[in-house]
Order: sequence, then structure tokens, then C-alpha cells
Amino acid sequence: MSTNRNDVCWCGSGKKYKKCHMAMDERIDSIKYDVYRGQVPPPHDIIKTAADIEGIRKSGVINDGVLDLMESLVKPGIDTESLNQAAHEYIVSHGAIPACLNYEGFPKSVCISINEVVCHGIPSKDTILKEGDIVNVDTTTILDGYYADASRMYIVGEASKEARDLVRVAKECMELGIEAARPWHFLGDIGAAVDAHAKKHGYSIVTALGGHGVGNDFHEEPFVPHVGETDTGMLLVPGMVLTVEPMVNAGKYKVVTDKKDGWTVRTRDGSLSAQWEKTILITETGTEVLSS
Ligand code: MF3
Ligand code: CO
Ligand code: CO
Repeated sequence: MSTNRNDVCWCGSGKKYKKCHMAMDERIDSIKYDVYRGQVPPPHDIIKTAADIEGIRKSGVINDGVLDLMESLVKPGIDTESLNQAAHEYIVSHGAIPACLNYEGFPKSVCISINEVVCHGIPSKDTILKEGDIVNVDTTTILDGYYADASRMYIVGEASKEARDLVRVAKECMELGIEAARPWHFLGDIGAAVDAHAKKHGYSIVTALGGHGVGNDFHEEPFVPHVGETDTGMLLVPGMVLTVEPMVNAGKYKVVTDKKDGWTVRTRDGSLSAQWEKTILITETGTEVLSS
């Protein structure tokens, strides 16, 4: 980029380049990228402005409210369409839009994925929660054009130790992935941390799907793998917003997508799967959670 120091910054802040992103660009340019490790600098268009970040943060407050609401509703006997309707009404009544509804043809406002369903479960009147189920609700809110994406696990009544352990370790995997996300380090650090923890417990990480940049759109660059090697992939810099959302299988990592509905992703071996997701901002010193 050949922005002059007195030009207005490329980010849209309206400030002069030299008072805005010039120092960051110089630091990005000063790094020697190892092509053999897939190291690349982040493109400008995924680095958020202060206004973007404020917008995503506000969207995240509503998104978190949906997941809090689910906490009070999940119990044996409730159908997942009722949960979907409650989520939809919550989002709309807060002046926002559920991003999942009609996204590439997805028919509902949130994804609800039970037991061996890995992700993208479609809410239905015919799907009734029962004692011992482990359930993921994944919601994405659009407020004033800004996207926030998060999911949590819910345990229906009393579940087996096997199920509870998986849910806990999946959460730890996400947390360790977020701890590994540091400015001026590389994206691959996240997947390396996530996968090491899953392996330690004899679990596997789904590789067919991953996290993503988010904020001005639902799925932005970069793809965030939940496996991999440290010091590989895109450089992380302050102002990037990503999701960390590992899908952790009790059995093998392979998944299959339902042929009939085209959405529901299940473990191929029928084993249980758990997922937690947060939207995070890379800051000057670490990370800030924008939705959880
Ligand atoms: N919220 C999911 C994610 O974490 C995406 C769901 S797409 C949908 O990226 F169409 F299934 F809703
Ligand atoms: Co996501
Ligand atoms: Co999500």
C-alpha cells in the first residue's frame, strides 16, 4: 500500500495515516514471513476500526442475552423449535436480526445441535430434549450491520460422566485456543493449543469446519483451524475479530452432513460431540471477548 503519511488512513477513521495505522503497517511490513509455514500478513480489510469494534461489542451484548435466555428454557420435554422461537423473538425485540435465518437457505434463527450432532442442527417441533442430552445453541446477531457469533453447551437434567467430561473439556479447548491468540503471533497457535488439549483427553477435533473472521459479515477471512502448528498461517494483529469454536468429538474426527436436509452435521462414528464458541477481538495486549 502506498498511502502517504499525511493522507487519510485506509481504515475509514478519517484520521491522518501517520496518526492512525501507519505504525501498525510498518510493523506488519517489517516481519519476515516464512512461506513454508504459510505465514502471511493480514489484509487491511479485515482490520476493524474503533467504530466497527463498538458495533460488534453492542451486537455481542444481545447475542449473549440469547444464550442466557436459553439457560432458563433448556429442560427435559421442550422442543427445539420453541427454543428457536424464543431466541428469534429476543433478537428481533432488541432491534436486531438473526443472522442464521435464511443464511444460505438455513431455515431457522439459531442452530441447535444435540449429542452426536456436531453443528448446524435445525430446530424442529419434533425434536424434544430429554434427560441426559447435551445441547449446543449457536446464535449470531446482526445489529446495525455488525455480526456477533457465539455458542454454548447446555446439559439437560443429569447427564453421564462421559457427556459432562466432554462438555467441560470442549470448553477448556476453546479457552486455551483464546489464550493462545496473541497479537504479533500467528493464527496456527490457536489450533495447536486446542488440539493438544483434546488429544490429551483422548478426544478428536473436527477439521472440516472451523472458526472465522467475523464482524462486518458473517464469515470473513481468515478461516480459523482448530488443529495445526504454532507459528503458521496469518499474522494476528490488534483490530482483528475472530471466532474460536472448536467441535470436539468423543470418538473420531470425521463428520457427515445429512443428505436429506443438507445441514445437520453428525459424527461419522455416532460418538458424542461438543462445541463452544466465542467472538474475540485481538487487542494490543491479548484478547477481549466480544460475544460468549
Ligand atoms: N453460527 C455458525 C458459526 O459459528 C454458522 C451457522 S450457519 C447456519 O459459524 F446457516 F447454519 F446458521
Ligand atoms: Co462461528
Ligand atoms: Co456460531
